[in-house]
Amino acid sequence: MNVLELNNIRKSFGDLEVLRNITVTVAKSEVVAIIGPSGSGKSTLLRCATMLETIDSGEIKYLDDYAARTGPDGHAVYSDAQTMRRIRGCYGLVFQNFNLFPHYSVMKNVTDAMISVQKRTRDEACTEALELLKKMGLSDKADNYPYQLSGGQQQRASIVRALALKPEVLFFDEPTSALDPELTGEVLKVIRGLTEENMTMVIVTHEMQFAQHVADKVYFMDEGVVIEQGTPDDVFNRSSQDRTRRFLERYNQ
Ligand SMILES: Nc1ncnc2c1ncn2[C@@H]1O[C@H](COP(=O)(O)OP(=O)(O)O)[C@@H](O)[C@H]1O
Ligand SMILES: [Mg+2]
Repeated sequence: MNVLELNNIRKSFGDLEVLRNITVTVAKSEVVAIIGPSGSGKSTLLRCATMLETIDSGEIKYLDDYAARTGPDGHAVYSDAQTMRRIRGCYGLVFQNFNLFPHYSVMKNVTDAMISVQKRTRDEACTEALELLKKMGLSDKADNYPYQLSGGQQQRASIVRALALKPEVLFFDEPTSALDPELTGEVLKVIRGLTEENMTMVIVTHEMQFAQHVADKVYFMDEGVVIEQGTPDDVFNRSSQDRTRRFLERYNQ
């Protein structure tokens, strides 16, 4: 079963065509890594998949629901509000810069949407949040504010916040690029732990070794195009594409 299908996605900013006919499918429990140079459209793709940007044309489908389909005039048409609400419950997004609310405690960051969007009771939300925080090694940080946490702790808290909403698929946009190398490991370890729980994930990353180890499928993007896709072995060790090889060489020096 596919949790997510992105078909022939096109997106321009003014005259700049940033996504040119991108197709990506994500099956249940699959870990998909998206790699590629800076400016190739990776963040825009995640932003389109999570409705932070609208697409110009193409299809976005979560489970059995279409979020967007190409209409008769060739432009994307988004579904009705009720469908979109259902779809919004399907995914979570973890940003590069954590995006925790600075004026909320860790606990409030995690429980806010559980209570306001999912209408769960405060007690239930807090109990569950605490359990997740404990699992991520943050049980003593529940009452702290983001500025009192290290970058790695903040990123783990934002992963807890996303997980607490029980998404079908979790997107990560360069989750470790804002972190010092010594803090990167602790966040990668948490993400690796999620793969063992069969969490479906789409991870944009520059951590090539990590991508090679955790991904079931790798997409290499350049200039708004998927240049190639395949198993980590296909892409990292047996690529037939010049552009992929040149990109990967930069990481092997
Ligand atoms: N809101 C925007 N308005 C105009 N151009 C944008 C916007 N967001 C991204 N871009 C441009 O789209 C291209 C792809 O950006 P991005 O998706 O951030 O790439 P990546 O995440 O792979 O580094 C870049 O040329 C970037 O400057
Ligand atoms: Mg980016």
